Amino acid sequence: MTQSKDIISVNFNDEDSNTSANPTFDSVLTARLSRRNILRGSIGSVATAVFGAPTLSACGSDDDAPAPAPAPAPAPSPVEKLLSFAAVAKSLEDKVTVPAGYTASIIYALGDPLRATTADYKNDGSDADFENRAGDHHDGMEWFGLGADGKASLTSNDRGLLAMNHEATTDQKLSSFFLHADGGKSTLPRPAAEVDKEVNIHGISVVEVKKAADGKWSYIKDSAFNFRLTPWSDVELSGPLRGHALAKTKYSVDAVKTRGTINNCGTGKSPWGSFLTGEENWVGYFSRSAADDAARGDKSVVALKRYGSSQGGASRHGWETAGTEDKYQRFNSSKTGTSADGSDDYRNELNTMGYIVEVDAFDKSKAAKKRSALGRFAHESAVFGKAEAGKPLAVYMGDDSRGEYIYKFVSAANWDAADATPVSRIATGDKYLDNGKLYVAKFNADGKGEWIELAMSNAAIIAYAAYKFADQADICVNTRLAADAVGATKMDRPEWCSVNPANGEVYYALTNNTSRRVDPSSSQFAPDSANPRVYKDIKGADASQEGNPNGHILRLKEDAAGSAALGFSWDVYLFGAEASASGSAINLSNLTGDQDFSSPDGLAFSPSTGICWIQTDDGAYTDVTNCMMLAALPGKVGDGAKKTLSYTKADGSKLSVDTYVGKAPAVDTLKRFLVGPAACEITGLAETPDGKALFINIQHPGETTAMANIADPTKFTSQWPSNAGYGAGKRPRSATIVITKTDGGRIGS
Ligand code: FEO
Ligand code: CA
Ligand code: CA
Ligand code: CA
Repeated sequence: MTQSKDIISVNFNDEDSNTSANPTFDSVLTARLSRRNILRGSIGSVATAVFGAPTLSACGSDDDAPAPAPAPAPAPSPVEKLLSFAAVAKSLEDKVTVPAGYTASIIYALGDPLRATTADYKNDGSDADFENRAGDHHDGMEWFGLGADGKASLTSNDRGLLAMNHEATTDQKLSSFFLHADGGKSTLPRPAAEVDKEVNIHGISVVEVKKAADGKWSYIKDSAFNFRLTPWSDVELSGPLRGHALAKTKYSVDAVKTRGTINNCGTGKSPWGSFLTGEENWVGYFSRSAADDAARGDKSVVALKRYGSSQGGASRHGWETAGTEDKYQRFNSSKTGTSADGSDDYRNELNTMGYIVEVDAFDKSKAAKKRSALGRFAHESAVFGKAEAGKPLAVYMGDDSRGEYIYKFVSAANWDAADATPVSRIATGDKYLDNGKLYVAKFNADGKGEWIELAMSNAAIIAYAAYKFADQADICVNTRLAADAVGATKMDRPEWCSVNPANGEVYYALTNNTSRRVDPSSSQFAPDSANPRVYKDIKGADASQEGNPNGHILRLKEDAAGSAALGFSWDVYLFGAEASASGSAINLSNLTGDQDFSSPDGLAFSPSTGICWIQTDDGAYTDVTNCMMLAALPGKVGDGAKKTLSYTKADGSKLSVDTYVGKAPAVDTLKRFLVGPAACEITGLAETPDGKALFINIQHPGETTAMANIADPTKFTSQWPSNAGYGAGKRPRSATIVITKTDGGRIGS
């Protein structure tokens, strides 16, 4: 979705609620593939940076971490030039467009069965049994290779698991209307039969995909690896929150577990091969009664408000009204019980939501764990910095709401390369993700920045008047309040991040911020160096889009200490803009018509090619084009120049903002690669190790359809993917597509 949720009042239809996958940096894989790039004469920047000048001595060697199933050597393609494809034009057509020489195939859509005994999806609102089907709003996604022996493989290119998020659902007036034959009931109470479907299309799915001898990919309906994790699955609490009073509920009086995961957006992949999924706009699913503040009468009211939960606030779908069963009542986060500790109600339920959750994609019998040490907020992706033996691991994260922050977790344990092929992935996660330091970013006007630790040892946190922290678990649960206390920089909605395998620099998509103003109200934000633009964008006849409607991509370079650094330098790699705004203080990156974009969201570097893939989730430029994906070959922090933006305030005084603009892209370093169908967002990115199959997700095509038109497919704003020949019915469906190249080359060449 394309709008944003406010800190104070929640807009449930808001985009802070939609999402996607980001490829993460797996150093083992990257090292292996970068070496392969050397052999293939690819552009070399990645390989050169990692290994120094290419040498033939690297040929044929395979001295990386042990791999279960070495792949055959790829065919050399000495003439490969990345970004040599012809740019795709902006488009409003209801289809997926890719460059000439490429094919996009639909392989896995909402409702597709995940076991042999589940019926095919009829797509007419009569389907049920969603705990055994693909969920809705496919989002962040990661690839987990499977060898011929059925075990994890770092090198398999023709068989693997896709682990993906199912963030949300296309809804109006409470109902996920495309799931119900008549559009569903849009008043309270909600029918249990409708709610059971709506709950179960959330969470994650893991699905096996395979390439046939003819080169065609498909998902395997009866694979024993397939599984769903829904908002009703058991999930363990881990880290400082485990066993803590803040997590006591009727469901877990000893505070060790909760039900499920919800509104999962960005993803991550750990260096030990587990799947990480971020819980983003979880608050909106839970109601709170009109008199709950007084009933509580304690500091939890401050905490709830900071996360957007106001008393009397309705929930997004009204699931708590579906019955007296505990599984519905858990969506009522009011204090309803008489206990002193919350063990007889769900007053603490929201403290068990908002985390990075670790899942073993290869083993559905292993309980997923919420890694509370990484903080609680509207999580997007969780991306590892380069894993170096003997040094701590860094995990980069963002909080996607207007004016929220950028975070880093640094593990207490130092990386042991033997953990790249662990006996137990979840136990390895215990080692690296339950103990460490949590930092928030402050960006300074001189192009430098600092990581500020969020800990009880920080005097600013102890002295914070608005909320008195009890201990580190309290900081991990109320991360936003702790970051407020230390003066972190309010950003333009941090979406996914990714690490450039060439040099370790960290890229963050800052999707947009409609609350940035030269003369801000108390709920708005003045421009600053890292979020420097304030302007009006015209959309058709609508001139009301103000602030930073098109977003930007910021990048940072850690100081010499690397993952554990307390300081960094930064610049803005790209500013989103319409090409027609060239020459202004808007199109600061001089984007051309083949490059212009708005609202970057998904962001992922390919470990194979080093291409930075940029995906959009936009509502500003959608009068001209559907959402898109671009391919980029970025430079590095500091390759551009300082620029001073000048604003005039209402009182006539001047406001000057210094920022740092990366080198403008050339025609062959940034190109539009794909445009999606109508009213969708592009998200999720995973690829095979050889870089020859790229999986992405098309989320919520046709989301602008009016619920009243449920019976008339001609009035759906999209009929994708049925109009591309996939599946029954005309109702639009979120789906995974795979992109391949006709000549068998790598994607993006
Ligand atoms: Fe999940 Fe903020 O997009
Ligand atoms: Ca998104
Ligand atoms: Ca416009
Ligand atoms: Ca978004």
